[in-house]
Amino acid sequence: MQKKKTVLDIQKMKADGERIAVLTCYDYPTAAIMDGCGIDMILIGDSVGVVVAGYDNTLPVTMEEMIYHTRAVMRARPNALVVADLPFLSYQVDLASARLNAGRLVKDGGAAAVKIEGGVNVEETIAAITAMDIPVVGHIGLTPQSLHRMGGFKVQGKGAEQAERLMEDARAVERAGAFAVVLEGIPMGLAERITAELSIPTIGIGAGPHCDGQVLVIHDILGLCSKYSPKFVKRYAELSPVIGEAVTSYIADVKGGAFPEERHSFK
Ligand code: KIV
Repeated sequence: MQKKKTVLDIQKMKADGERIAVLTCYDYPTAAIMDGCGIDMILIGDSVGVVVAGYDNTLPVTMEEMIYHTRAVMRARPNALVVADLPFLSYQVDLASARLNAGRLVKDGGAAAVKIEGGVNVEETIAAITAMDIPVVGHIGLTPQSLHRMGGFKVQGKGAEQAERLMEDARAVERAGAFAVVLEGIPMGLAERITAELSIPTIGIGAGPHCDGQVLVIHDILGLCSKYSPKFVKRYAELSPVIGEAVTSYIADVKGGAFPEERHSFK
């Protein structure tokens, strides 16, 4: 029987040189499937706003939506470590609301840890949340909630000055007590430097092969989002046409009277 993973297991994986496999997840059936496959960590990302709710970016996602999706994932009773995102405006205003909202993801949602975007600018916030014994994953580089400051979803940390700033962000996140950090959309050489310097695991997305682990959005690896496929995504299935074919066959069966048959009916 698989054992429930904790933050200590995730940290030990870095020490042991075992790579950490992470995927986003937002619902019960998908959580049950990926947990059965042995995923190490499940992230209820605020990317739910884009890939499930159809928003243009993650900014409109609310605490209520994050709690709803976290609860749905937790009903699968995953052995993976479950981390939930703190959405935009749930931690930026003051430390008290950051602590309260982190606590809600654990108490109301059932997550074991929370993720927060930012580096030096959220050092105090990460420290305040970890002081409540809530484990925190940091997230630096291309931070989607900073879309308007970045002027779009652009690779960060290019050039010596920007790279130094990101090194400082990485150090700040570790100093504040985060147990892991997501490195998103940064050059692979910089991700390698950060991974070598930090004692906490780095989880890359668009950050090259030298991180301690990798995370991708489940809809992206399954080919469920036909709108846009970033360079860093590897598609492991193409489910959109499969779903399309099933729906088309269903419509034809209903209209042509081929469904339902007697065997689908009650006597
Ligand atoms: O919201 C999200 O899914 C994320 C991951 C892509 C890292 O933050």
